[in-house]
Amino acid sequence: MELPIRYLVQPLPFKPHRLDGFTDALLLSHYQNNYGGAVRRLNAIEQRLEALDWTKAPVFEINGLKREQLVAMNSAILHEIYFDGLGESGGGDPKGDLASALERDFGSIARWRAEFVATAKAQGDGSGWTILSWSPRLGRLVNAWAAEHTFGIADGAPVLALDMYEHAYHRDFGANVGANVDTVMKNLAWDRIGARHARALAAHPASAATANDTEVTVEELHARIAGSAKPVILDVCLKEDHERKSDALPGARWEDPTRVREWASALPKGTTVVTYCLYGFQISRNATSELRELGIDAKSLAGGIATWRASGYPTEPFSAAS
Ligand SMILES: [Fe+2]
Repeated sequence: MELPIRYLVQPLPFKPHRLDGFTDALLLSHYQNNYGGAVRRLNAIEQRLEALDWTKAPVFEINGLKREQLVAMNSAILHEIYFDGLGESGGGDPKGDLASALERDFGSIARWRAEFVATAKAQGDGSGWTILSWSPRLGRLVNAWAAEHTFGIADGAPVLALDMYEHAYHRDFGANVGANVDTVMKNLAWDRIGARHARALAAHPASAATANDTEVTVEELHARIAGSAKPVILDVCLKEDHERKSDALPGARWEDPTRVREWASALPKGTTVVTYCLYGFQISRNATSELRELGIDAKSLAGGIATWRASGYPTEPFSAAS
């Protein structure tokens, strides 16, 4: 029984002879031989994987096939994004939401372009891709360096891919890597790239937690400690957790989270309070809720002292004496 072909070659979204600076011979060879080759190789690898007895196959065979599957799959996908980003009458600058996002994340479109172009040209001695990726974790666009088809930001959704493998330009430009990059840049189809960016945002919204009304991030607290309106910082770790920690946030004093109402009345009127515990779960959140019920402007530290330490901020020796 013949196994189904799983991956189909996607059509070119432009007429090769209409691009400015590349010969249609190069683009056709790139499309048919390199991209098409990756898709054909991927289907052949999939057939080998389908036929594999996973309980008996030697480790070297599994590793080899899975590695080649990843290389061929990413090569196929990145080539599709590369070709999708090129078009007739391309070039110029991005528009709309993508333009705003590049300005937000790089300062200006010119700065983004300078970084993207320099990263691509720096890959001239090797082989790989320069990829503009949307990272939901970072909540921003990033210019990423990618070798071997297989590197990239782990949660990145590529928006634009520039092929720096020699097969992408040698036929037209020889070893002139810069000419390849400059020619791609003047053929970018910003309408399609913008649409890909919009799809990436819709599918992968930014995931980073943002501070809310009752929490403060370590970055915010660090900035507030350095500023003029310092909050009162209260360590509200449980008494039984004292032996699990030896340090505290700078200037913090310990208060018993089980006796909030007893010590809250001693807080000066109008005080802003930040509470924290070991990891920022129930202990500091509950203490914060109680303080807020008493009319005190309190927030808890997101992630607790663990996130404070992990961010590289200083601590002081802990003393339970309050
Ligand atoms: Fe390529």
